[in-house]
Amino acid sequence: MDPNWKIETIAVQGGYEPKATEPRIVPIMQSTTFKYDSADHVAALFDLDSADPFYTRLGNPTTSAFEGKIAQLEGGVGALATSSGQAATTLAILNICRSGQHIVTASTLYGGTYSLFANTFPKLGIEVTFIDPEADAEEVKKAFRPTTRALFAETIGNPGLNVLDFAKFSDVAKSMGVPLIIDSTFATPYLCRPFEYGANIIVHSATKYIDGHATSLGGVIVDGGNFDWTSGKYPEMTEPDSSYHGLRYTEKFGNLAYIIKARVQYMRDIGATPGPLNSFLFSHGLTTLPLRMQRHSDNALALAKHLEDHPLVSWVNYPGLESHRSFARGRKYLPKGCSGVLTFGIKGGAPAGKIFMEACKLIALVVHVGDARSCVLHPATTTHRQLSEAQQISSGVAPDLIRLSVGIENIDDLIVDVNQALTASQK
Ligand SMILES: Cc1ncc(COP(=O)(O)O)c(C=O)c1O
Repeated sequence: MDPNWKIETIAVQGGYEPKATEPRIVPIMQSTTFKYDSADHVAALFDLDSADPFYTRLGNPTTSAFEGKIAQLEGGVGALATSSGQAATTLAILNICRSGQHIVTASTLYGGTYSLFANTFPKLGIEVTFIDPEADAEEVKKAFRPTTRALFAETIGNPGLNVLDFAKFSDVAKSMGVPLIIDSTFATPYLCRPFEYGANIIVHSATKYIDGHATSLGGVIVDGGNFDWTSGKYPEMTEPDSSYHGLRYTEKFGNLAYIIKARVQYMRDIGATPGPLNSFLFSHGLTTLPLRMQRHSDNALALAKHLEDHPLVSWVNYPGLESHRSFARGRKYLPKGCSGVLTFGIKGGAPAGKIFMEACKLIALVVHVGDARSCVLHPATTTHRQLSEAQQISSGVAPDLIRLSVGIENIDDLIVDVNQALTASQK
């Protein structure tokens, strides 16, 4: 790759450079295993002296092409693809945090990540403190303990749509000596490159905008190669690994230590690997990421402005709106646009929300975001229906809240559909 390539060029050409007579498009290597001529070659693979593929749980050429492209797009040193976004977050943290240790996270998280941190990590002995991302730096620091090993947050919170104060979060992480791990699923590297704002590790649910066409579940961890693991807090990075004849990751791999360790220890042992077909579809999706993200963002802003003026709408939450609390931060960190998800309140509350969702014709009722096709969800009567109204409100789900993932269709058609569904909702 030419280091001067712009993001649009990397999205099209990155991750795979075929030699003469090789396929122009990255092939789907639907093979678990690879053939060798010498036992020494295989021994070198097991000793991590060769990066050639040897078993698809640990690496596959189609998956490597996807990993290469997303690492280049984010400006990282390496990436590890996973079977889902949840697997990416889980492995990203397990790689540096063990039983008896602790992480601090912004509370404004995707529900699945919230549950992973609130329920499953504590069962494994990893404690998690949730903080208000708007608290000042000194307040956030109070949540840290001697055992804290990471600070976690989302670039754009799902579903709150708050834009992260990267300057504050990276200052806190630096002064507390831990990496800043960012879930940048909603932003994607086209809208925001968190390593440029002090993040150290990025995770994505590739299921969303990276795929972009609602075909495949997957995730990815990207390493910025910009954190010093040798402070003494991360002995698994610096001390001998008995499962690799006493290998020391930082000594052998330098600034690739984190991402190589995630692959050869945790992917080896847990096996949350994407299938080659999914990796192929993620590389394919990334090819058009810049075009799609611009259109998603432009359509969402236009629809948000339309809804703000609509008499049947009580409020609109979209960081691209001047009325939004994160507007200035959006300008700073997401100058090209604020992605495709918006939420709004409908007059008539939950009953009207249910009718609205069912009345949409072009916009489909789907439990998903980030698809090229627009989709809608009324969390109070679907994803959050098991919660009491008080619990719904504390998790950010008001009875009248409707979430729209705005696709890349023509904006005029989306406005027609939203208008007719809003009218229908009042019957
Ligand atoms: C911000 C965010 N992170 C992570 C995930 C989890 O991703 P996956 O469904 O691929 O496991 C999601 C899923 O919606 C998400 O929205």
